[in-house]
Amino acid sequence: MPELSKEVLISEKEIAKRVDELAEEISNRQDGRPLLVVGILKGSFIFLADLVRRLTCPVTLEFIRVLMKDEREEGSPRIIKYDVPFTVEGKDVLIVEDIFDTGITIDYLLDHFANQSPASTQVCVLLDKTETHKVDVKVDYVGFEIPNKYVIGYGLDFEEKYRDLPYISWLDNVTWPLSS
Ligand code: IMP
Repeated sequence: MPELSKEVLISEKEIAKRVDELAEEISNRQDGRPLLVVGILKGSFIFLADLVRRLTCPVTLEFIRVLMKDEREEGSPRIIKYDVPFTVEGKDVLIVEDIFDTGITIDYLLDHFANQSPASTQVCVLLDKTETHKVDVKVDYVGFEIPNKYVIGYGLDFEEKYRDLPYISWLDNVTWPLSS
């Protein structure tokens, strides 16, 4: 059975400081130009809410949900589940994702948006599991590099639990992708 670690991997205070830094970097690069922020549900929702409130450029928001076709299959293709149509044509887009694990989701999204002629596309992830990448994708902003642990909290879940934790911790004994 998965067990919640008693330890904190990244504290509330560390998260807040890093979110401030990322927002400053993104705002500086935007230099007052409007930004379309696309949040990837559900894991990014708290990070995104904190981040956009610190950006100094004009912001619009959209959300999509990307799922694995089969959660038991490693490297399973992704599909968009929650697909409210919006246009990225001619816009500066910032994709905000909770975690770069294999990179398959980000790779899929970059392809998805490339076909729609955005002015630019950047990617911001809260966490980067540097040991588990399977595809090489360019990520522009990384909150924290983390070891290969199953992390939860600050939006990230295990079976829909723990998203509400204000800090990031991890679960022991989780095999991921979920095995049947
Ligand atoms: P990727 O496509 O393999 O990079 O991973 C995409 C998705 O897998 C993330 O958006 C998360 O929803 C999920 N995921 C990967 N690792 C973890 C974890 O440690 N905790 C919670 N979710 C995870």
